[in-house]
Amino acid sequence: MKHVLSGAAVATALVLGTGGNATAAIKIGFMLPYSGTYAALGQAIENGFKLYVQEQGGKLAGQELEYFKVDDESNPAKGPDNANRLIKRDHVDILVGTVHSGVAVALAKAAKDSDTTLIIPNAGADVITGPLCSKNIFRSSFSNWQPGYAMGGVAAKKGYKHAVTITWNYAAGKESTDGFKESFEKGGGKVVKQLALPFPKVEFQPLLTEIAALKPDVVYTFFAGGGAVKFVKDYDASGLRKTVPLLASGFLTDGTLDAQGKAAEGLLTTLHYADGLNTPRDNAFRADYAKAYPKTAPDVYAVQGYDAAQILAAGLNAVKGDVSKKAAMRAAMSGATIDSPRGTFKLSKAGNPVQDFYLREVKDGKNLSIGIAAKGLADPARGCKL
Ligand code: PHB
Repeated sequence: MKHVLSGAAVATALVLGTGGNATAAIKIGFMLPYSGTYAALGQAIENGFKLYVQEQGGKLAGQELEYFKVDDESNPAKGPDNANRLIKRDHVDILVGTVHSGVAVALAKAAKDSDTTLIIPNAGADVITGPLCSKNIFRSSFSNWQPGYAMGGVAAKKGYKHAVTITWNYAAGKESTDGFKESFEKGGGKVVKQLALPFPKVEFQPLLTEIAALKPDVVYTFFAGGGAVKFVKDYDASGLRKTVPLLASGFLTDGTLDAQGKAAEGLLTTLHYADGLNTPRDNAFRADYAKAYPKTAPDVYAVQGYDAAQILAAGLNAVKGDVSKKAAMRAAMSGATIDSPRGTFKLSKAGNPVQDFYLREVKDGKNLSIGIAAKGLADPARGCKL
């Protein structure tokens, strides 16, 4: 016998069932927030991704997956180092991340420089599917512009004339409120003031006082995660809801309704997912999710994680699990039709989902769809040259 296999190597060969010609597992690098205001979002994404893999029998394209994890803390300053932990130290084949737009820009640059395939399961930074767009970068989520643009049209149609926006002062908030402003003003409205506070601060009171003084017809907001819980409670407690209706991108109330309770009832939001879609695809997803994670309800983040795995599967199936065939794998990812719980979608040339945006209303603690705010909405991909 020429080769003496170590115990570990024998075990690996047996697990893979390839009788000694074992190919290494595909290395997946999760760069997600596991702490801070977006911690629950990161966990939901990982849960969704792993659920899809589990539904395929624990493998994609016949290959085992090996997971590597980094907590990016939603801290853009640590973005480059955290990305390189996965790329240069762990040598991952595929990057999956992240939630925060500022961190995602650092991750996208590192992915581009190292020619690593990246699937973004949340962060909407417009620049990533704009000037930074690249053949190795895909989104299973949205661009920040999309839900904001969808809601601006709704607000204009409702006849509101003067709006104030309020958000965190970073890419996601700025781009979401700019998207709202674009379609609201196209529809005849005017955004009279754009208010912001630093991420992830939650001292909303001075800005709520300013809104009360400005007396707009309506407020549009982007907040998410822990900050969104506090904002909805503060807006309600301030009494403003009685005089100034609050509109938002659906992140305000997704995954946060249990904590917001009555303060969220009746809020209108726009998002590419909703509760109670009652399609066979979504019902199956939700039943599987409830079985796998009985303590948490599925939300938009879980769906985005699940669909990140579906996009990857489309690529891996096309190359029979051979991740070294990057061009063929990426072409298949780019051309795939994704059978998402949200409804099927395809990616734009820039790699961003072209999808419907639901108008949702919070009813009895659920984000129920009450119509479509924007059908087949594509991000304009301004500045993308692909
Ligand atoms: C973002 O930073 O792009 C972001 C974060 C949380 C969300 C949505 C967008 O829920």
